[in-house]
Amino acid sequence: MTKTLGIIGGGQLGMMLTEAAKKMPEYISDVIVLDPTPKCPAARVGAKQIIADFKDKNAIVELSLQSDLITYEIESGDSKVLESLHGEVSINPSPSTLKIIQDKFLQKQFLRQNNIPVAEFDAIESLEDLERKIIQYQYPALLKARRDAYDGRGNFKIEDHSQIHAAYQQFSGRDTMIEKFVDFKMEVSVIAARNIHGEIATYPLVENIHKNNILEITIAPARVDSKISAEADRIAKKTMDVLHGAGVFGIEMFVTKDDKVLVNEIAPRVHNSGHHTLQSSKTSQFEQHLRAILGLPLGSTNLKHTTIMCNILGPSDFFGKYKPISLEQKDGVYLKMYHKDEAKPQRKLGHFNVVDEHDTKDVEKLLEKTRQIKNSIRFIQN
Ligand SMILES: Nc1ncnc2c1ncn2[C@@H]1O[C@H](COP(=O)(O)OP(=O)(O)O)[C@@H](O)[C@H]1O
Ligand SMILES: [Mg+2]
Repeated sequence: MTKTLGIIGGGQLGMMLTEAAKKMPEYISDVIVLDPTPKCPAARVGAKQIIADFKDKNAIVELSLQSDLITYEIESGDSKVLESLHGEVSINPSPSTLKIIQDKFLQKQFLRQNNIPVAEFDAIESLEDLERKIIQYQYPALLKARRDAYDGRGNFKIEDHSQIHAAYQQFSGRDTMIEKFVDFKMEVSVIAARNIHGEIATYPLVENIHKNNILEITIAPARVDSKISAEADRIAKKTMDVLHGAGVFGIEMFVTKDDKVLVNEIAPRVHNSGHHTLQSSKTSQFEQHLRAILGLPLGSTNLKHTTIMCNILGPSDFFGKYKPISLEQKDGVYLKMYHKDEAKPQRKLGHFNVVDEHDTKDVEKLLEKTRQIKNSIRFIQN
């Protein structure tokens, strides 16, 4: 019997999950998303939409009544409400997994307890507590909001004693934690999947370049030696083993200057650094997620070609409606826009993948091509 898929969140990730679902009509007949923005990206590609806040209890219940299985594209859904529904509708990743991941402190504790390497961290209870603990952590150190953080907005890098107060103030009223600053050589990630039967699959390690705390470029595969990619893969598989949840997870990691691999954070969902899979792999991360939660065998995660993904962000001085962006037709370049009406500085509006279809393996050249394309994109008021 075909199923109705409910997704909490209908942004670009929900949109690409919807597109993947539409290619699996033998399993999924309908997609409904819960999202507060009318005509959200997922609705633009054919999902039905309940217009409400992600944490709106009645709306989540309504979504569950209309769906056979529920998943999410954001980690901020109300895990308590979801927990109360569990049993009546299948929810993956499970609300108990979501609950651990939603709180960066609980998440790191969970990882440490399972012997998965992470940077040193501790919960912060008060300003005095922060003042005390930072002496042990030394400068710089990071103060992080434990919940509802993304694109670096929940982080404050404390460089010296004079910034302690400002850092604490920034997250006033929110639970926080302190974390040792990792002087990393590279940021990398593994997109991993686990289906409801426990089968695990990982995509090859990718390299992530951030600008202003937002992912700018992903290079697949990462430019590291095979020892490091094997270690990252081992850590990712172990993480999936202990987490129990089903679905795709984005596992962000640091490679330190002395070649250690540390987990930074886990996203319980498809991940921006997995967008390259739309072209680089036989199974995209979106299809993989649906396979995982439907209980189908996981698809191949082999990389067909070296691929670079580049995010298209709203420029710093541009607000409001913009003309649809088109890219010059170039070999091996694939554009995906997210159908967002209005641009805002740093808002993710689309991405493009540059695929090394002739297998030159010349990453420098591919990067140059990527940057050229990025710089040629113009935003024009509509
Ligand atoms: N302990 C750390 N040491 C050094 N840089 C860090 C550390 N934690 C986070 N960062 C940097 O900040 C970025 C965002 O932090 P992250 O914890 O992943 O939060 P978000 O939820 O905003 O993605 C990371 O991708 C990394 O560049
Ligand atoms: Mg992150």
